[in-house]
Amino acid sequence: MKITVIGAGNVGATAALRIAEKQLAREVVLIDIVEGVPQGKALDMYESGPVALFDTRIYGSNDYSDSANSDIVLITAGLARKPGMSREDLLQKNASIIREVTSQVMKYSQNPILIMVSNPLDVMTFVAHTISKLPPERVIGMAGVLDTARFRSFIAEALDVSMQDINAFVLGGHGDSMVPVVKYTSVAGIPLTELLPREKIDAIVERTRNGGIEIVNHLKTGSAYYAPAASAVEMIEAIVKDRKRIIPCTTLLSGQYGIDQVFCGVPVKLGKNGIEQILEINLSADELDALQQSAKLVDENCQNLKALLA
Ligand code: LAC
Repeated sequence: MKITVIGAGNVGATAALRIAEKQLAREVVLIDIVEGVPQGKALDMYESGPVALFDTRIYGSNDYSDSANSDIVLITAGLARKPGMSREDLLQKNASIIREVTSQVMKYSQNPILIMVSNPLDVMTFVAHTISKLPPERVIGMAGVLDTARFRSFIAEALDVSMQDINAFVLGGHGDSMVPVVKYTSVAGIPLTELLPREKIDAIVERTRNGGIEIVNHLKTGSAYYAPAASAVEMIEAIVKDRKRIIPCTTLLSGQYGIDQVFCGVPVKLGKNGIEQILEINLSADELDALQQSAKLVDENCQNLKALLA
């Protein structure tokens, strides 16, 4: 197993280290355009191996040829938000970056699975899919795992129970229009609505929607990276170990939920072939409407990039 991480910033570096510490690959390559940074960070990580107890060969490079024959490529390249910016403010700049990164990656790997982290997430997944021409099940966006992790962590805090026992889904695009699905949220099987009053649940849903900006407002110089990196690595683990995990990911819908040819976050089965199944769960009319509105916003942004990608 060879995994390449594009972008040696906070998300990329944190993810690379987690991949090594979990020994998910024999070889991890960290690639960035800035000279010295991927080399320095990766060497530092490699040297932690004897004490952190991993044997993963991890190294940095500025040269995409070092990504050759990757099984999985995690793409974190691009700009992050600053206070006052929406994810959509990154659209044009990051689309150009992802276009370039994806075509470089595809020069050296035949049939990789691409996992996208750059924002605006759903649109960047569309860009990578368009440029790579990979089958849609191999171009996957990381958003639902992160948004769900935030939702779960806030519920665990409110109830003072283990995070592990919180089951939840957040669907839709990775933005203000995301759709936390309360109906399918449970604590060890007990519906959340039996454990928390409606106002408290509504407040948690709202905090989840604003989870990204809450971190940006604290950091001021960039956006979240520990939870995004951990979420991306959970997806990589599901693929590497062929675990058939059912988790929300951004994928190309072709008619499911009444959404056609738009990348959107929905529950999928994740295994060695990437997205092995898209699950269509029953949603209330309001939830379905919110999901379709969210997809519509994603699609509008994708249409705005048609010239850039032509
Ligand atoms: C967030 C950014 C990374 O949600 O999209 O934190």
